[in-house]
Amino acid sequence: MKMVLASKNPHKLVEMSAILSQLGIQVILESDAGVDVDVEETGTTFEENAQLKATAVMKASGLPAIADDSGLCVTALGGGPGVYSARYGGEGLTDKDRYELVLKGLSGQLDRSAKFVSAICCAFPNGDTVTARGECPGIIAYAPRGSGTFGYDPIFLVPERKKTFAEMSAEEKNAISHRGVALQNFKVELEKYLAKTSV
Ligand code: IMP
Repeated sequence: MKMVLASKNPHKLVEMSAILSQLGIQVILESDAGVDVDVEETGTTFEENAQLKATAVMKASGLPAIADDSGLCVTALGGGPGVYSARYGGEGLTDKDRYELVLKGLSGQLDRSAKFVSAICCAFPNGDTVTARGECPGIIAYAPRGSGTFGYDPIFLVPERKKTFAEMSAEEKNAISHRGVALQNFKVELEKYLAKTSV
């Protein structure tokens, strides 16, 4: 079976393919399916946004489509930036600007607990959807550490590893990350779905 990845991010293609190839599923980019869809992420939950993206690409391509939506939830910021992680602070900011905004928002805060969340949704042409969620708990560091990754990685500290996501190798991060956990959970849900349906 072929699935279209509802994202233009080739990094996500690599991560998704690694897991889904174990189920005999080939994941292809939107461009290879001949579609180019821009979806407004108007949902209020990660699951809603993942479903919006997957459904739009499924409709445009006529093929099953898979999407993920993710973000950082900080307890002392009322769960923010949450679904607004990619645009926190407004347009035109860099990743560094955004994580500095989080650090500023936490200045003087004792509660630095946070979690990364990822929701994955696959939308099938028959209208069915399969979703899964993954979370990775951690704390917000007092200053950025590590480099070479993206988003909020440099300030997200995993206490058991004594490292931020930005200080981990890709393998180490994927083994515990919200997206890694969501993908593993998704694989289980998809296997269950495929066992009872013929799509
Ligand atoms: P989206 O899921 O592509 O809509 O983007 C979610 C946003 O959350 C990204 O732009 C990043 O700012 C942030 N984010 C999600 N996952 C990670 C991660 O693994 N590390 C760092 N930041 C992340």
